Amino acid sequence: MHQTSDIQQAVNFIQQHTDKKPTIGIILGSGLGPFADTLEDAVHIPYDTIPHFAKSAAVGHANELVIGKSGDKTVIAMKGRFHYYEGFTLDQVTFPVRVMKMLGVEKLIITNACGAVNTSFKPGDLMLITDHINLTANNPLIGPNNPELGVRFLDVSEVYNKQLRTIVSDVANELNITLQQGVYAWWTGPTYETPAEVRMIRVLGADAVGMSTVPEAIIAHHSGIKTIGISCLTNMACGILDQPLGHEEVIETAERVKSTFLQLITKTIARF
Ligand code: HPA
Repeated sequence: MHQTSDIQQAVNFIQQHTDKKPTIGIILGSGLGPFADTLEDAVHIPYDTIPHFAKSAAVGHANELVIGKSGDKTVIAMKGRFHYYEGFTLDQVTFPVRVMKMLGVEKLIITNACGAVNTSFKPGDLMLITDHINLTANNPLIGPNNPELGVRFLDVSEVYNKQLRTIVSDVANELNITLQQGVYAWWTGPTYETPAEVRMIRVLGADAVGMSTVPEAIIAHHSGIKTIGISCLTNMACGILDQPLGHEEVIETAERVKSTFLQLITKTIARF
């Protein structure tokens, strides 16, 4: 379990590289790394140089923090994230969120690529996460609670901040971007779901399923960071269409939607 002093060491290291004070954080999912390249006057800090950071090996992800300006806002972007399925502990997966908090981040945008479970959605749609279902039987807050970081028993009735969600949906309207809304189910991966599992997930009340986001969202909420999640529905979840699912499809769709996603995020940040 990371201690407050570990977070402080990572923060000190980052602050040696930049005097920028980020107030908005963003975690970039599969194929969305290019957002970080839009940040101006940016500093790039590879994860493996930062004290206590793990090193991600996921295909399609870079592995660095990028701190720079988006309009008048100072943003810290995670280009690449740590996934539970890679074998990282949830403490490692969520450590960067603790670091963002200590750096002064007040609002966090978590993005991901995921599968559409709701059959009225289509590949390439974006989805604002309204709530989540944790299917993993794990939780990043299991273990001793550090009261300096947050409460022991966390209220999760509004993990995804309502006020910020309204801003995102207003921005989507203004930009004429179709923005679905729905519940995200967290699946450990690395296998995709079986068709039977997808039917189960639908019955349970989820609209989309993916392998990330929920641990980071829980820790952001625990830290008092206002959080939103936006998914790129890269594919119909397994069994909905009569075809196999591969990582290539996920990357291809994320690539196709990239510029729309970048527009939505950029204008959202300007409004935050
Ligand atoms: N399931 C889980 N994770 C995913 C999917 C999916 O269908 N697509 C992209 N990430």
